[in-house]
Amino acid sequence: MNLGFFASHRGSNMQAVIAACNSGQLAAKPCVVISNNSDSEALARARKEGIPAYHFSSKVIADPAELDKAILLTLQRHEVELVVLAGYMKQLGEKTLNAYQGRVINIHPALLPKYGGLGMYGIHVHEAVIAAGDAETGVTVHLVDAEYDHGEILAQCRLPVLPGDTAETLAGRVLETEHTFLVQTLIDIVEGKIILPQKVN
Ligand code: GRF
Repeated sequence: MNLGFFASHRGSNMQAVIAACNSGQLAAKPCVVISNNSDSEALARARKEGIPAYHFSSKVIADPAELDKAILLTLQRHEVELVVLAGYMKQLGEKTLNAYQGRVINIHPALLPKYGGLGMYGIHVHEAVIAAGDAETGVTVHLVDAEYDHGEILAQCRLPVLPGDTAETLAGRVLETEHTFLVQTLIDIVEGKIILPQKVN
C-alpha cells in the first residue's frame, strides 16, 4: 500500500509509520511527504529517509484551487493509495478530497467526537480534557471529510487520565500511544480488518 503523508510540524507519528514500513512490520511504502511548513521537522525527517518531500502552501502557490491541483497531482505522481494526515494543520482542498474520498485518514489525540474541531489541536486538547476532569482520554483515527476532525471513526483506543496528570504529562503519554496505535490501525487496514469505503490496493 502506497502511503502519502501530510504533516505540519514534528512528524513523530509519520516517523513511527515510516519505521514500521522499514522494519517490515507494516506492509506499506511511504511514497511522499507534504507539508505546509517549509521548516517542519516532518520534511527534514522525510528527506533523511530518502522520501520525496514537498512544501506546498499559499506561499508557494497563492491561488487555493491551483494549490489543491498541485497537491493532488503530486499524490498521483507518487502513486499514493492512502493519505495519512498526521499533525497536518490545514484542510485538504476539494479536488484532493474528492479524488481520495474514503482514502484519507487523520489521527487525533482525544476520543472524538469530544475535543475535536477548529482550535482543538496540540496541548489545547489535553488542557480541555484536564479541565473537564475526564477520567480517560484516548486516540482516534478517522476518515477525513471537509470538516475538521469530523469523518467516520475507524479506530479508537483509551487511556486513563492519572491523578496528578497535567496537560503536558498527558500529552506525552497520548503521543506515545498514538505512535503504536497509528501503526496498528494501518496494519489493520492493510490486512482488511478495517474496511475503508474505497478499496485502497
Ligand atoms: C498528534 O498528536 C496528532 O494526533 C495530531 O497532531 C499531533 C502530531 O504530532 N493530529 P506529530 O507531528 O506526529 O509529532
